[in-house]
Amino acid sequence: MQQLILLCALLASFWTTCTGAGDWCYQSQFACEHPCNAPEKWDHSFKDCAGTRQSPINIVTRKTLKDERLTPIQFKNYQQIFRSNIKNNGHSVQVGIPHLSTISGGGLEGTYKAVQFHLHWGKNGGPGSEHTIDGEQYPMELHIVHMKSHYIDLTTALRDPEGIAVLGFLYEKSSSSNKKYEPIISSLRSIKSTNGNTSLPAISLAQLVPSEQNMTSYYRYKGSLTTPGCAEAVVWTVFEKPIPLSMDQLRAFSELQFHDGKQMTGNFRPVQPLNGRQVFRSGGAVILASSALLLAAIATALGLSQPN
Ligand SMILES: *[C@@H]1O[C@H](CO)[C@@H](O)[C@H](O)[C@H]1NC(C)=O
Ligand SMILES: *[C@@H]1O[C@H](CO)[C@@H](O)[C@H](O)[C@H]1NC(C)=O
Ligand SMILES: [Zn+2]
Repeated sequence: MQQLILLCALLASFWTTCTGAGDWCYQSQFACEHPCNAPEKWDHSFKDCAGTRQSPINIVTRKTLKDERLTPIQFKNYQQIFRSNIKNNGHSVQVGIPHLSTISGGGLEGTYKAVQFHLHWGKNGGPGSEHTIDGEQYPMELHIVHMKSHYIDLTTALRDPEGIAVLGFLYEKSSSSNKKYEPIISSLRSIKSTNGNTSLPAISLAQLVPSEQNMTSYYRYKGSLTTPGCAEAVVWTVFEKPIPLSMDQLRAFSELQFHDGKQMTGNFRPVQPLNGRQVFRSGGAVILASSALLLAAIATALGLSQPN
């Protein structure tokens, strides 16, 4: 046994020193027989992965700071229906978005246009999100990647410390299936193998995310891409309200395969140190709703006390 562990350690160090850039993997893919560049070693090939503002993070809600500037985000053309392809890129499933949908407001500097979305998930509906909230890891996480609207490509946007805005949505298990996700989930069986690519029925971004009223509570911090090269160019928004999916819908993602044919599961990066960063939170719908109720109550009380 001891020899086996030693051999594995030797192989792992040999592999890390011998593999080139691009050969990164998730912890779930690492096996003694097939050592690969797991998250702790990403920085050997990608220097930025060892930076001081990395993502994802654990959000400790008690330590977040409420920021009045974090008003509801303006979503433009999120209702727009578009046609695209969905691809198994060996790390996730990804969908390109025609540059029509934009976000602004909500403390963002200027307008950002949507470029692509992809997901991170666990095994058969088990823990799989990248961001965690008070230590809780959700079954899956959606990333809608946007770049500042004046940039033409991601490469340029990645050189700007605020060039990218990613909207992160967590998922929760629900007893009923989410009909709006059927186009995506049905397409997964056609792209099980790495590099599998199929056309997606017409969808809109709005159908994948909660209603605008349910997106007013969110967390904001400055971080990075969660895959190599880990560029520190991302303004993160993580929404409080999770998106419901049934167990069967969540399980469908575990049918996908990494390049070696193994189940594509656990494709998340572990949480990274905050290094003194402050996480902010929006004013939030709950507060707004309760103050509206309070105002209504006062108005009613005043109305009642006035003579007719
Ligand atoms: C997927 O396939 C389509 C059509 O064959 C092609 O145009 C597109 O570039 C491919 N997408 C990716 C991301 O490989
Ligand atoms: C917001 O979420 C709640 C709780 O899940 C739900 O009951 C409500 O219908 C949602 N609101 C809108 C406008 O979709
Ligand atoms: Zn991601």
